[in-house]
Order: sequence, then structure tokens, then C-alpha cells
Amino acid sequence: MSPGPAGGGGPDGDHGRHGIRVAIDGPAASGKSTTARAVAERLGYAHLNSGLLYRAITWAGLEGGWVDAGPDEFARRVGELDLELRRRNGEFVVVVADRRPGGELTTRAVSRRVSDVAAREPARTRALEELREAGRRGGVVCDGRDIGTVVFPDAELKVYLVATAEERARRRLLDYDETPTEERIAAEAERLRARDEKDAGRELAPLRKPDDAVEIDTTDLRPGEVVDSIVELARERGA
Ligand code: C5P
Repeated sequence: MSPGPAGGGGPDGDHGRHGIRVAIDGPAASGKSTTARAVAERLGYAHLNSGLLYRAITWAGLEGGWVDAGPDEFARRVGELDLELRRRNGEFVVVVADRRPGGELTTRAVSRRVSDVAAREPARTRALEELREAGRRGGVVCDGRDIGTVVFPDAELKVYLVATAEERARRRLLDYDETPTEERIAAEAERLRARDEKDAGRELAPLRKPDDAVEIDTTDLRPGEVVDSIVELARERGA
């Protein structure tokens, strides 16, 4: 395994590294997580979906009735939350109180609230700790909004995925098993734009393209083409 750039390395230096870190950022439903999972599989790395952490905190907050709590209670609840990332067969899964929430994390109810939760400092600090720990030894493909800018600013490869809001809406509806009619696409595109605006406009770790990222517009690309390009770039950078 290539040791990475001379003098590089995270908190541990390069010792015990399992590979490079690939950061994939972009707006909602731009295909980050499907792409990241496929890239990880091709490289024999683990996929780390950072959005799942914010979704898990939001879900727990909705279930526990503290999602809108004031600063002190919110910080306490997030601090007390029994939440961890566990590596399972090439994928980091989120475990909350020994339970592994599945479809609960991607419901519209959670999607509607997650950006407000993700803008709050205790949620960001908690997620940052979990993500850095999971990626400490490299060999990960991590997707999110601030991976290349904040979580792994020294990632060997940073990719920024974009696609039109309508195309992203169409793909999201298919994920929800809904027929993408024109009307539904317009409504879903509006929801995605609203979430992107919140994510890009917030004070803490806003969504933005890292200066040193490779931007890929996936609107007219097949998923396999996007994956191939990223795998090639990753190999060039030592994967
Ligand atoms: O990627 P996904 O759409 O599941 O992310 C859900 C939400 O979590 C985003 O809209 C954003 O508010 C938040 N998020 C974030 N930083 C990340 C990943 C996700 O703020 N790195």
C-alpha cells in the first residue's frame, strides 16, 4: 500500500494506514452515497455515509421528543446519546442504543428535520468525533457535505458531485418507489433545494465545494461511469 504523500498523514502519521481517504461531497440526492458505496467496494475500502449520523440524531430526537429542545437540553441529549459507527462488511453502520435503525432514517419526516439538527453545534461536534475516529486509519470512502472541507481536510482525493435539482428529484422519487411524474419531480426538487439552501447557508461547516476537489456533474452520466472515474482518480492517488 502506498504510504501517501511524503510528510503527510493524520494524527497518527502514516503508521497502520489501510489506504487513502476519499471524500465525496455534494448537495442532497446527488448520488453521493450510492457512488461512494460502489467505489468503496471496488477499492476494497469501507463506505462511511456521514449523513446517517445526522439522520440518526434527528430520528432519536424525534422519538424522544427533544428534537427542538433549547441549547442546554439539546446538548445534553446529544452528549448522552448511545450512538456509534460500527464497521460491518465494507460498510460503517450506525448503531443507536444497540439498535440498528434502517428505513427509519430515510423517511420524509427525518429528511424534513435533519438540516436543522445538522446545523446545531452539539450534533456537528458529535458527528465529527465519530467520523474522524472511523476514518483514522484510512481505507474509507466517506460521503457528506463537509467531508473534504472539515472532516478530512487532508483527504488524498476529494470529489464534488453535482446534478440538476430535477434529476436529483427524479432519482430520489425512484428511491422512494414513487413514479416520477412531472408534478412530483417539481415538488421533490423544491424540497431538495430548500435542504441545500439550509446546508449551504449555515454557519457551521456549510456545504461547499472544497477548493481542491474534482467536480463531476452526474446529470447525464450513468452511475457506472461516475464510479469508474473516481476509482481511476483514487488509484492515481495511491489507492
Ligand atoms: O446525505 P444525506 O442527505 O443523508 O444527509 C442528510 C443531512 O445531513 C443533510 O441534508 C445535511 O443537513 C446533513 N449532513 C451534514 N454534513 C454531512 C452530511 C450530512 O450536515 N457531512
